[in-house]
Amino acid sequence: MKLDNSTLSEIKNSLNIVDVISNYVKLSSKGKNYFGICPFHDDHSPSMSVSPERQIYTCFSCGATGNVFKFIQDYENITFMEAVKKCANMAGIIIDVGEVRTKQKFQDLYDIYELSFKFYQNNLNTELGIPARNYLHSRSLDDATIKEFGIGLSLDKVDSLSKLLKSKKYDDKTLIRSGLVNENDYNLYDMYRNRIMFPLYDLNGKVIGFNGRIYNGEKESKYINSKETDIFKKRELLYNYHRAREEVRKQKNVIIMEGPMDVIRAYTAGVKNCVAALGTAFGKEQALLIRKLSDNVILCFDGDAAGEKATKLAIEELTKIGISPKIVRLEDNSDPDEYILKNGGQAFIDKINNPMNIMEFKESVLKNEYDLSKSEDMAKYINKMISEIDNINDDILREVTINKLSKETDIDINLIKSKLTKKDTPKIEIKPKKDIKENKYIKSEKYLIYYMLQSTDVIKMYQKKITHMPTEVYRHLAFQINQFYKDNGYMDVADLITYLQGDSESIKAVGEITTLDIPNEVNFDEIDDYLNNIKEYNEKEQTKIYKKQLKSELDYNKKLELAKKALEIKMRREEND
Ligand code: UTP
Ligand code: MN
Repeated sequence: MKLDNSTLSEIKNSLNIVDVISNYVKLSSKGKNYFGICPFHDDHSPSMSVSPERQIYTCFSCGATGNVFKFIQDYENITFMEAVKKCANMAGIIIDVGEVRTKQKFQDLYDIYELSFKFYQNNLNTELGIPARNYLHSRSLDDATIKEFGIGLSLDKVDSLSKLLKSKKYDDKTLIRSGLVNENDYNLYDMYRNRIMFPLYDLNGKVIGFNGRIYNGEKESKYINSKETDIFKKRELLYNYHRAREEVRKQKNVIIMEGPMDVIRAYTAGVKNCVAALGTAFGKEQALLIRKLSDNVILCFDGDAAGEKATKLAIEELTKIGISPKIVRLEDNSDPDEYILKNGGQAFIDKINNPMNIMEFKESVLKNEYDLSKSEDMAKYINKMISEIDNINDDILREVTINKLSKETDIDINLIKSKLTKKDTPKIEIKPKKDIKENKYIKSEKYLIYYMLQSTDVIKMYQKKITHMPTEVYRHLAFQINQFYKDNGYMDVADLITYLQGDSESIKAVGEITTLDIPNEVNFDEIDDYLNNIKEYNEKEQTKIYKKQLKSELDYNKKLELAKKALEIKMRREEND
């Protein structure tokens, strides 16, 4: 079986290497990259860096480098094709053996959801949608926001969606399996009627479910989530995950809220790195999803008692997987939506910028629980605090909290400490890169390749000068980069690695060069310098060859010819200088 490049890059593009590697190795973010213990050598400190930007990983220690396919291939010790199949599976893409065609698993469900999504969206813009639109406007959501979040409306009719889907020739069984339609003894009917429909998207931005809210009259439940299906597992979903992903990487933190309205309101206030747990149950799968986005998590649940309880549970889930979230509590039982409407976006941003740490949160909860003017309550409070301090992994935070507790309660520090059982903290430490003195030629070829991988303009400049890199491995890599560009018309490091498959020397060189700590922006004057340096190197080498030949050459005319050529090079150089 042979797959073409576009299929391979389609599979690669539907996955995020950070997510995939997180399933195997714990990654922590540092700067714009992620770091983890390298699984390809006996690593003790996290030496493997994963770049979300380039979609590749590189180990500073053993040099292992690759894209998502190579990681799976090497980690699982399987063939390239098996790794591709595995990745396709993770991305929900079926590869047709023989034919180079891709198809989504559960395509019918995705299609049904996409169609329903468009139908609901359209309903909102019809005459029948006026009351719902008015409701949304009354909640200060403008049309642009309604559109951005794909908000729609299910009609106040028994079977408008069912009929539409039937007309598309889906059989009843498939429709019922989708959860949007059900049957009674006689007919199919719509599950959602007369609700505002908030679409739920999967990690790749495909609609896979809905959260339907009542908007007129009192009914059973305020929100109804659509049924779990093969493509929708509530436990594995965070509202707005796909849209927040980029912003989380920019802001370097993620905010977790309870409901879609909170996320949407924060978004309109310019806070776009929010996701919602869809209610108060925040579980293990969601915690793992969050970790793939960021280690810096802020919990901003509703200000009421349920929100406080949810906060405690979320802290528990997150600390289990090594994340110490920060906490924001909103006054007057407000949820973020209400808080922003009442106090404005800036007040909310100020809150988010000054979150509590876990200890401060626990302290505030305990203080509310106990009456510290009573000795018995005070003793309970101190004991509870001590057991909380025992859970702190950060040495400094531990020390600070112990001191604070001692001052506040007049209990001797040593007494507090004697009640603790100390734990060690794992530390992330990145080895500094080896500082090898290298000559300007090696630097030039490395930097050139670095920027060829950044910009196709640099590839074109390189092609024009037809340079010949001094070092064999870089020369070969530069050749391959040109070849890739010629074949595909674009440059993408992760795709290049697929292209280089099997050529481990070149792949290693890609890893070495992409992890150089130099600016991403191309400076074309510098590129010219590098190209000239390499040209100079080539000319020097050529001169050396002429001189050597000159020594052994006996024929007078040929001697003259060689001397002339060497002189020409020399003069040309002097002219350029
Ligand atoms: P809330 O009751 O806090 O709703 O539920 P909300 O976010 O303030 O929504 P508005 O402002 O009244 O529109 C938080 C979330 O819990 C889930 C929903 O996802 C909701 O957004 N929920 C709530 C349900 O699934 N079912 C319910 O009956 C209520
Ligand atoms: Mn609300």
